[in-house]
Amino acid sequence: MMKILVLNGPNLNMLGKREPGIYGADTLKQLEEGVISAGLKTGMEVVCFQSNYEGALLDEIHSAESRGFNGIIINPGALTHYSIALRDAIAGIELPVIEVHISNVHAREDFRKHSVTAPVSIGQIAGFGFFGYELALHAIKDYIRGRG
Ligand code: DQA
Repeated sequence: MMKILVLNGPNLNMLGKREPGIYGADTLKQLEEGVISAGLKTGMEVVCFQSNYEGALLDEIHSAESRGFNGIIINPGALTHYSIALRDAIAGIELPVIEVHISNVHAREDFRKHSVTAPVSIGQIAGFGFFGYELALHAIKDYIRGRG
C-alpha cells in the first residue's frame, strides 16, 4: 500500500475559525479525516501532521523516506512565500512532493503569487478548497506509479 504524508503548515490548525470566507467553515480535523478516507478509497495510507513551526515540518520532510513514505503532499501556508529552508528540505529528498493551497493564491495579494517551494515540487494545486488534497492524492499516485 502506498504511504503518503500530508503536511499542513502555520495557521492551518485554525481552519474553521480563520477567515472562513477564504478558507471555509470546516476544521483541520475534518480536512484530515476527509483526506485519510479518500486515501483509503484509492488504496493509500495517509498520515497527517500539522505544525506552526518551520523546524517541525523540516524534521517530518527529512525523515519521511526512512519512515516508509512514498510521497508528500504539503500545504506550507505562508511559508510557501518565503521559506528557503522549506524549499531546501524539499529539494534535498528523493520523494515526490505536491504543493496544495486551499485558496487560489494567484487570485489574491501579489505576495501570495510567488512560491519558493513550487519549483522544487512536482506540481501545485490551488483554489479547490479541501478537495485539492484529494486531487493531489490522485496526482501523486499516478506520478509514483509512472516512476516506479
Ligand atoms: C494557503 C495560502 C497562503 O498564502 C496562506 O498564507 C495560508 C494558506 C492556502 O491554503 O490557501 O496560510 O496556503
